Amino acid sequence: MKVNQAEFIISAVGPSQYPEDALPEIALAGRSNVGKSSLINCLISRKNLARTSSQPGKTQTLNYYKVNQDLYFVDLPGYGYAKVSKTKREEWGKFIEGYLLNREPLMLVMQLVDLRHPPTKDDIAMYEWLLHMGVPVQVVATKADKIPKTQWPKHLKVVRETLGMPKGVQPLLFSSELKLGKDELWSILEQAIGY
Ligand code: GTP
Ligand code: MG
Repeated sequence: MKVNQAEFIISAVGPSQYPEDALPEIALAGRSNVGKSSLINCLISRKNLARTSSQPGKTQTLNYYKVNQDLYFVDLPGYGYAKVSKTKREEWGKFIEGYLLNREPLMLVMQLVDLRHPPTKDDIAMYEWLLHMGVPVQVVATKADKIPKTQWPKHLKVVRETLGMPKGVQPLLFSSELKLGKDELWSILEQAIGY
């Protein structure tokens, strides 16, 4: 897809704030700091439209970005951030769960994991839950630039096996830094929204 226009739309704290134009939505899930906002910026070729930070847990709302008149990226708050209180985490869970289960225009969830490390308990729980609920998901293993190329296959295998990904399903190798996997990911997204 050629990105002619990309803009921030809203930081939504509840369903009444979700856009009503019924464009397809693609959500990003993943631990705080895994690189969700960076991946959005990479896909739309902008330096900092989706705010990135080295301060984990910064994004606490559902952030909508509109691409052309074609789709929304929905940047979900990062999970598994220890410094957030338990009550806050539970609130977060309900809010996100409601979105993922009930949002009609939602076409695909990109679940980001860090290629360097085996997926965490939170990653596994999230992935299993998405599969169980029948939410379409593409696992994206990012920050590939942080490890040598020769180790990519080994790390991809750990991601696959730790998440228990079904046969024939692969994580997508990605790096926002290198723009690695960008074209392949766009074609997966286009397919998901029937572009
Ligand atoms: P929250 O909004 O807190 O949930 O974090 P996030 O998942 O949106 O992460 P963000 O995109 O803000 O990135 C976190 C940090 O990782 C930043 O310092 C980024 O520059 C860095 N980062 C993200 N993606 C990559 C990547 O592919 N390679 C490298 N080397 N660094 C990355
Ligand atoms: Mg973010």
